[in-house]
Amino acid sequence: MSELNKIALKIISNGKGILAADESNGTMTKRLEAVNVASTPENRLLFRETLFSSESMKKYIGGVILYDETINQTTNFGKSIPDLISSSGAIPGIKVDTGTKSLANSSEEKITEGLDGLRERLNKYYKLGARFTKWRGVYTISNKYPSKLSINSNAHALARYSALVQESKMVPIVEPEVLMDGEHSADICLKKTSDVIKKCFDELILHKVDLSGIILKPNMILSGNQSKDQISNEDISQKTLECLKNSVPIEVPGIAFLSGGQSEIEATKNLNLINQNNNTRFIMTFSYGRALQQSALRIWSKNIKDIKATQNTFNHRAKMCSLAAQGKWSNELENK
Ligand code: 13P
Repeated sequence: MSELNKIALKIISNGKGILAADESNGTMTKRLEAVNVASTPENRLLFRETLFSSESMKKYIGGVILYDETINQTTNFGKSIPDLISSSGAIPGIKVDTGTKSLANSSEEKITEGLDGLRERLNKYYKLGARFTKWRGVYTISNKYPSKLSINSNAHALARYSALVQESKMVPIVEPEVLMDGEHSADICLKKTSDVIKKCFDELILHKVDLSGIILKPNMILSGNQSKDQISNEDISQKTLECLKNSVPIEVPGIAFLSGGQSEIEATKNLNLINQNNNTRFIMTFSYGRALQQSALRIWSKNIKDIKATQNTFNHRAKMCSLAAQGKWSNELENK
């Protein structure tokens, strides 16, 4: 077993998943302002250290994705953020893309940037304690999109990123996110997500990436959020499994879904069914941002000094996601 494969498995095995707390300062400011909290470096740190020192970190969270500001911060009780995460047994990770820009010659689509100087930044993050990384490519669905140009160029960037990350002895999370925005059917989402993922693996293989040392972070197969034709949770799980079975090489150790705008309960329910119906050899778990933090953020915003109430809320959500990652979640446990 390679070192990278061991790290990947440590992050996603035994019902553990990933806490995606890597919102950029711009995104975090939107989230904090939505609950009337000022977006200062101190407040961003306080919310995150409150989550990272929760009891559930030890049992349910295998890795935490950080943003550049956070990985460089020291907690209010004097530990560095990567040390705080490692002390719970979880692995610190870091978002290394620098965000999206409009794609030249297809300006309604996006291309993710951040390859220039990446090798040097990776060395710095490794020294700070990171052992895995994230890069998100983003795709929209419409009659014309995602274009071949967007599918090819984002896959190329994801592959170049992954090769550099493995060279730096870290595990790349490969995140091609096909957005849920639009009126499209779930079958269109299935077709387009499959095209996107297949192209990513073509490029990863071309760039000689060790597939046993990555984690794939895809969207689930959903109807567009404006579609009148919403499908059942059971159908979501079946179509998601069909997509991954047909487009992901078997060497990949596991898949950690993004929540992508689903509610906490929907994201949990769907992951639970995916695991109950899992007819693949892949571990299927969560790498949620909003679906792990939304309720905790709401509670925290009522009194940012009430650490206990925030942690209780987060502990429950993390436990529910972990149960779902094992196909053991139920409505009764949710509401207990
Ligand atoms: P969401 O779960 O909120 O979609 O965030 C996951 C993530 O990391 C997006 O890049």
